[in-house]
Amino acid sequence: GAQGPLAGRKVVITAGPTHEPIDPVRYIANRSSGKQGYALAAAAVAAGAQVTLISGPVSIADPDWVDVVKVESAREMLAAVEAALPADVAIMAAAVADWRMAEEGRQKIKKEASGALPVLKFAENPDILATIGHHDSLRPQLLVGFAAETQNLVTNAQGKLQRKNADWIVANDVSPQTGIMGGDSNTIRLVSADGVEDWPQLSKVDVAERLISRIAATLNSED
Ligand code: C5P
Repeated sequence: GAQGPLAGRKVVITAGPTHEPIDPVRYIANRSSGKQGYALAAAAVAAGAQVTLISGPVSIADPDWVDVVKVESAREMLAAVEAALPADVAIMAAAVADWRMAEEGRQKIKKEASGALPVLKFAENPDILATIGHHDSLRPQLLVGFAAETQNLVTNAQGKLQRKNADWIVANDVSPQTGIMGGDSNTIRLVSADGVEDWPQLSKVDVAERLISRIAATLNSED
């Protein structure tokens, strides 16, 4: 069996954006690269965990020794997460689209000769983190969310901690001048019921390793 501080533990991780189809050829997406989630999966494997990575569309190779489940939409991601549970830990690093189309067109939307513009109607997507957080039987022992914000970082993260019933929120400032979205480094604040911990600017790989060792220390102290 695997060795390491997470040996014998199961970890479920979400990563990347979701794509929400508009019609057969178009979709709504966001700028998430998936780098942080993939780095977390690699760090969890290195710590000895059994890892399932549920990934939206990204251009990163599958990490070794990880069970990778590829999905497109938020609803597919929720179904894949529920299928991957139970787990000791879940880390929701995906940038899940808040909205999808109320109705997905079965045919490509065509330009109207009249010049009339299409009107897109939205429906709210399920919140995967909140769904799992409020699950009676399937809620992992340690549930970690991310919060990408451009303002009021800590207040927003604390709100998410409560509303989604997460244990930790890894908050980061994704204002364009930070270069975090799509970039290789990350400056995070770890928000929990115990307070706020500021981490220095680190590579996404180092953030992943530090977070995974914190998770291992927490689980091993709760045993
Ligand atoms: O989008 P928001 O800032 O609320 O995301 C915070 C956390 O909630 C992230 O961990 C994200 O993966 C998760 N989330 C989710 N499902 C959604 C929206 C967000 O799991 N529909």
